[in-house]
Amino acid sequence: MKREATTSTASLVQLTADAADDAALDEIDAIGSAAFDAPQFSAREELRRPWTRCWIAREGGRALAFLIAWHVVDELHVLNIATCPRARRRGLATALMRRSLEYAQQQQVRLLLLEVRRSNRAAIRLYRKLGFTAMGVRPRYYSDNGEDAVEMVLTLDPATGAVQPGRDEIRLEV
Ligand SMILES: CC(C)(COP(=O)(O)OP(=O)(O)OC[C@H]1O[C@@H](n2cnc3c(N)ncnc32)[C@H](O)[C@@H]1OP(=O)(O)O)[C@@H](O)C(=O)NCCC(=O)NCCS
Repeated sequence: MKREATTSTASLVQLTADAADDAALDEIDAIGSAAFDAPQFSAREELRRPWTRCWIAREGGRALAFLIAWHVVDELHVLNIATCPRARRRGLATALMRRSLEYAQQQQVRLLLLEVRRSNRAAIRLYRKLGFTAMGVRPRYYSDNGEDAVEMVLTLDPATGAVQPGRDEIRLEV
C-alpha cells in the first residue's frame, strides 16, 4: 500500500494486490454494499486482475471512499466510485477522480471512460465538474431496473496529458 497524497483531512492511497490489507478490502466492500443496491464486485477479486487500479481515501485508519478502474492499453475505465454516506460532500470522490486523472496523465492514457445511471445526478455532476462529457446512451443497460446508462468520456492528449475540450453528444438533465 502506497501513501500518495492528502486532501484536507484524508490520505489518498493506492491499493495493490500484493500490498492490500484485509481491513481495507473489507471496508471497500462495505462502502460498495452501502452505495449500490446489489453487490457489484468484490475488492479482493478485482485486485487480482492485473489491469485493475484502486485508490482509497482513508481517514483515522479507515477507508471512507474508493475508486476502482481498469487500465487497458491507452484507456482508463472507471468502474466504481463510492463514498460512505457519512463522508459525502467533503470532496473525497473529487480527490479520488483527480488522482485517477493524474495517474492517467502519467501513463499516457488517451481516454477516461465510465457509465453512470441516467438518474444519478450527484455522480453526473461530479463527472461534469472534472470535464467529462456525455458521449452516448446505452439503453436499458442496468438489469435491475432497466435504466439507461449514460456513457461519459474525458479525452487527454497522451503526449502532454492536457485535457481536451469536449461537448455533450446527448442532452442531460442535471
Ligand atoms: C457520487 C458520490 C461518489 C459522490 O461522492 P462525494 O465524496 O460526496 O463527492 P464530492 O464531495 O467530491 O462532490 C463533488 C461534486 O459532486 C456533486 N454532488 C455530489 N453529491 C451530490 C448530491 N447529493 N447532489 C447533488 N450533487 C452532488 C456536486 O457537484 C459536488 O460538488 P459540491 O459539493 O461542491 O457541490 C457519492 O454520492 C456516492 O457514493 N454515491 C453512491 C455511489 C454512486 O452513485 N457512485 C457513482 C456511480 S458508479
